[in-house]
Amino acid sequence: MLELTDVEAWRSFASEQRSKGRRIGLVPTMGALHEGHVSLFRAAKGTSDVVIATIFVNPRQFHDTGDLERYPRTPERDRDLALACGVACLVSPTLDAMWPDYPAPTPTTVTLGALGEVFEGADRPGHFDGVASVVAKLFVITGPCRAYFGEKDFQQLAVIRQMVRDLSFDVDVVGQPIVRDDDGLALSSRNVLLSPEGRRQALGFSRALRHVAEASRSADAQRATLRSVLEDAGVDVAYVEVVDSSTLVPSRDDETGERRALVAGFVEGIRLIDNGPVEVVGR
Ligand code: PAF
Repeated sequence: MLELTDVEAWRSFASEQRSKGRRIGLVPTMGALHEGHVSLFRAAKGTSDVVIATIFVNPRQFHDTGDLERYPRTPERDRDLALACGVACLVSPTLDAMWPDYPAPTPTTVTLGALGEVFEGADRPGHFDGVASVVAKLFVITGPCRAYFGEKDFQQLAVIRQMVRDLSFDVDVVGQPIVRDDDGLALSSRNVLLSPEGRRQALGFSRALRHVAEASRSADAQRATLRSVLEDAGVDVAYVEVVDSSTLVPSRDDETGERRALVAGFVEGIRLIDNGPVEVVGR
C-alpha cells in the first residue's frame, strides 16, 4: 500500500492510474476507521480497479473546537485496516497541505443553500460548507472517480450529490447502507467516546427507527413516536424528522409513500445521528 501525505504525489498517482485505464474508487474518511468504513472499502474494491482512501480530520466542518479535539484518532490501526482491505493508496494530507490559511477562513468555499442549512446544518452552522469544501478539494485532486460514502450521514450524502450535480464534478457518488453492531447501534467513530451506560441509551436511536419502520402511520405520528422512544431512552433530542429521501423536505401529514426518518441527539454530550427508511400513510 502506497502511503502519501503530499497532494501533488496523490494527484499524480491518481492520474497515472487513470492513464493505465484503471477506474479509481475514492473513499474519503476522517480516520478512526470501523466496519462501516470497511464496507465502503469493500464496495470500492468490488466496483473499481484501484482504491484510494483519504484520512483527514477536517477542522472546517467542526463548529465546536471541543468536538474537534475529542474526535478519535487511531492512525496505526487505520493503516492496518486499510492495508487489510486492499486499499492501494492511503493519503493522510497535512493540515497545511489542505488548508494553508487555517485557522483563517478560506476566501473560497462551497455553500449549499437550503439543503446545507437544515437539520445538521441548522445545529452546526457552517458544518456542510466545511464538508462540501473539503470534499470538493478531494474530488479535484483525485480527478474522475467513483466516490463512496455511508448512508449513516444521510444529509451529507444528499449535500455531496447536490454539489456534484451543481458543479459538474466528474464523480459518481455511491451511497452504502448503514452498518450496525449486533445490538443495533449504527457504527460511528464517535461511539468509542460513550460509556457502557451511554451506549445503552444510544440504542434508543435504532429502537426508535425500528418502531417507525414496523408501523405505517402518518408523518406526524411517526415524528411523535421517534421523539418519545428517544426521550424514554434518555437521549437529549436535537431533532426528529420524516423527509423526502432526495430533497430532505419534511413530509406533510397527508402524504403517503417511502420516506426517510432522520434522528439526532446527545448522549453524554456526544452528538449522534441515525436514519432509516419509513413508510408514511397520509392522515
Ligand atoms: O464523513 C466523513 O468522514 C467526512 O465528513 C468526510 C466526508 C470525509 C469529509 O471530511
